[in-house]
Amino acid sequence: MKCAEKVRNPSCEHFSPSRFDVHASGFTHHLPPQMNTHRENSRRRTDDPRARVWLDRLSKTYREGDQDHIVLKELSQEFYEGEFVCLLGKSGSGKSTLLNLISGIDAPSGGDVFIRADGQQVAITRLSEHQRTLFRRSHIGIVFQFFNLIPTLTALENVALPLELTGRAGGRERAIALLEQVGLGARLGTYPDKLSGGEQQRVAIARALVHDPLLLLADEPTGHLDVETGETVLSLLLEMSHNANKMLLMATHASELARRADRVLHIEDGKLVSDEAWQAHHPDS
Ligand SMILES: Nc1ncnc2c1ncn2[C@@H]1O[C@H](COP(=O)(O)OP(=O)(O)OP(=O)(O)O)[C@@H](O)[C@H]1O
Ligand SMILES: [Mg+2]
Repeated sequence: MKCAEKVRNPSCEHFSPSRFDVHASGFTHHLPPQMNTHRENSRRRTDDPRARVWLDRLSKTYREGDQDHIVLKELSQEFYEGEFVCLLGKSGSGKSTLLNLISGIDAPSGGDVFIRADGQQVAITRLSEHQRTLFRRSHIGIVFQFFNLIPTLTALENVALPLELTGRAGGRERAIALLEQVGLGARLGTYPDKLSGGEQQRVAIARALVHDPLLLLADEPTGHLDVETGETVLSLLLEMSHNANKMLLMATHASELARRADRVLHIEDGKLVSDEAWQAHHPDS
């Protein structure tokens, strides 16, 4: 049975189609021209060819009863080709919210996220939910805290699936090569429940890279692993994203990761704060 068919009828209660959608990748498609570029305001363009992703006054507010809960307030920021940015912040500060807006899993209350793709500046925030899903499949790799592998698929099938869905050739070979790179060449036919947490996250890293995405997002990728395993997984993620010259934006509580990042940003009171400014206001941290 092809892995895509197996996925349609998963037996595990933890399976979530929406989570699967996030990972499905490699879909080759072209957005209609009117959806491909930003709207009217030329100020939103960037002339910096190194900018891979940029935020333009990005805001997110959740409605709770009759109250507004403002999580992100008009964030503007550029992220560059090949850099590793560490996103720090207290629990509830908005790290996952920001990653979900950049990946198009969620939609903002205001502002935009632009991603340079196929030579165009695409406002992912101006796409429909379906178009965002297609864009994500093609251009974004995501590593989650809880791995989010599909339990009815083997390690190899999990990694190959994004490419199989799109009909791209060579998916199986590329998936095998990536699994070998993460040290799991001998576990291709193993199901996730027979893999350790660290091994599952290594499969998830291979899956996030299989479609050669423009950017990698990681939301607490070591948060569910013991310290030693987390360190191994993190080193692997950094090495693989660096070797492939991917932009990596990683949300974490672990401030010690900051020293390995090219740049550190803090989320505080709904704003993005540079490490220097944050340190100046938190001299004892
Ligand atoms: N769907 C939602 N509806 C209402 N509020 C939400 C929703 N999702 C997130 N929030 C709120 O937004 C705020 C930011 O949440 P978020 O998950 O982004 O924080 P975080 O920095 O990732 O935290 P953690 O470190 O614990 O993962 C929290 O106060 C949270 O309660
Ligand atoms: Mg979070």
